[in-house]
Amino acid sequence: MSQKIKNPIGVFDSGIGGLTVYRALRAQMPHESFIYLGDTARLPYGTKSKETVCRYAERVARKLFEEEIKLLVVACNTASAAALPYLRELWPDMPILGVVKPGVQAAVEASKTGRVVVFATEGTIRSGAYQREIQKRALDMQVQGIACNLLVSLVEEGWGEGAEVDGILKRYLKRITLDNYDVLALGCTHFPVLIPALRSLLPPEVALIDSAETTALAAKRYLQENKLENGSSVAGRDRFLVTDCAERFRALAPLFLGGRDVDGVDFIAL
Ligand code: DGL
Repeated sequence: MSQKIKNPIGVFDSGIGGLTVYRALRAQMPHESFIYLGDTARLPYGTKSKETVCRYAERVARKLFEEEIKLLVVACNTASAAALPYLRELWPDMPILGVVKPGVQAAVEASKTGRVVVFATEGTIRSGAYQREIQKRALDMQVQGIACNLLVSLVEEGWGEGAEVDGILKRYLKRITLDNYDVLALGCTHFPVLIPALRSLLPPEVALIDSAETTALAAKRYLQENKLENGSSVAGRDRFLVTDCAERFRALAPLFLGGRDVDGVDFIAL
């Protein structure tokens, strides 16, 4: 056990967007070490079938478990929505946390009208994971899921604001048909980058919910409850691994980390 507490936390994403979740995890747990694995060779997951995403997720999770992580955080919404039960079946003894449940918890708590809109990738919306999870907590809640694939490319291009971004966001916002909604849940790793632009387009009574914060709190709680916290007073270490284009990942990282650079990014063949 004493050795295990020093083991890193594994963070898995289809690519770079999961850095928004890593950032929240890092802020909550400064003494933990992290291994972040971005499957950039297979990005995007959001437009792929459930079977394909399960296959990709298995490969990445296996690699992270080989690194003896003490907890796996699936930071990718699409992978959380499509593959979480599959991964838990494959590794029943390993703790695996996704982002959908924590995101739903935050959305349900924030909504007074009981009407929630979810922006996510096509795969996440198709899976019905947000809709199911929300209704599990509150049967009478109404949910509208909207697939916004283009927003992923926009953010990857480094465009978080400006007239073009506003124009595209307005087109997606026009698809909302749910009356009286008061929560827009951001069910995709990339979308927190668009919060300032979305905020300026939405009425003030609509809360923008991002699952990074609640996921980080859930991960911290898991370590506390299972006595797995790294008690060291020294700052934890980070490793960033990608399956393709390490330089591109490094160049885009500050966009997802509030301006911060990542020290080193290593390529691994998976
Ligand atoms: N990481 C994905 C998600 O959160 C977005 C990028 C992709 O489609 O792979 O759904």
